[in-house]
Amino acid sequence: MAVIKDGFMQTDVPLKTLTTWNVGGISKQFFAPTSVEQITKILPQLLKNNDICYILGGGSNVLISDEAINEPLIYTPQMNNFEVIRTQHDMTYIRVDAGCNVAKIRRFAYNNSLTGLEFLTGIPGTVGGALWGNAGAAGKDLSQVLIRLQVILKNGEIVTVENSDMKWSYRKSPFIDSDVSAITNAVIALKETHIDEIKEKTLIFAKLKHGQPMARKTAGCVFKNPEGDSAGRLLDISGCKGMKYGGAVVSEAHANFIENSNNATSLDIYKLCEKCRKRVYEEHGVELEYEIRMFGKFQ
Ligand code: EPU
Repeated sequence: MAVIKDGFMQTDVPLKTLTTWNVGGISKQFFAPTSVEQITKILPQLLKNNDICYILGGGSNVLISDEAINEPLIYTPQMNNFEVIRTQHDMTYIRVDAGCNVAKIRRFAYNNSLTGLEFLTGIPGTVGGALWGNAGAAGKDLSQVLIRLQVILKNGEIVTVENSDMKWSYRKSPFIDSDVSAITNAVIALKETHIDEIKEKTLIFAKLKHGQPMARKTAGCVFKNPEGDSAGRLLDISGCKGMKYGGAVVSEAHANFIENSNNATSLDIYKLCEKCRKRVYEEHGVELEYEIRMFGKFQ
């Protein structure tokens, strides 16, 4: 893995090891801020001269092209602090950096009998990434515990936004296709409860992950569920399980997961995704929408 020490620019950093699919080329302008202060200095500067600045969190929901990424890329997992800023009655307010791993904050909540994050059980990635894609399970997501967050706009401005002013929907945050470039940190509120309740909920969410290829190199579900249906079910009945392209294969365990089973390139994965999308469209007339994000060029 590349040596990532500070917020200063590094070049030719391999991105492969920073993604759960274990694919991707090198970054020509790589920044790994270690604090919110650093990102709020670096990113506005970069945005002055670049139309695109990629933000990479845990790399668990992203497909990065094999070719070099020439645009600046900010890797957030080194800005990963969180702190309790206030407790009031049975509520605990926590400020958390965007690069903080969701498992770290979930564990803190669990250990302190705070409920609201059990749905993160088995979900990888960072708080920023989870907010950006509105990650969730069984109707639960971070927007339900979010109070406010700080973002950097594409014009470089740093703004605090209250959750009451945001509109969230299934796997869609208010930031996608907006004037926001990055989320830097967030304040969430968790409620104190009996540990048994948290244990029970954690178990329920863990069970939802059974049948998913957790130990394989994947990026979670590739496609969003179409309204009223499951992308996995549609892919399955369209005969996609086991379909291959190069080193990529559609998981036999769950058809909405693509595994890097044998040194796949990101182009292999992309081609296989498109093959699956085409198959579902031909068989069922449904156009699946990507849940994963793509960095770089694929066409
Ligand atoms: N199904 C099949 N074949 C498959 C996969 C699923 O027939 O290959 C059927 C299942 O039997 C079930 C239905 O489809 O009847 C739904 O499947 P599942 O319970 O696995 O849930 P899902 O809708 O495929 C969603 C989320 C997952 C989340 C689970 C559990 C999306 C796109 N996926 O999956 O989230 O873990 O519910 O809450 O919303 C992710 O977003 O990356 C992700 C993994």
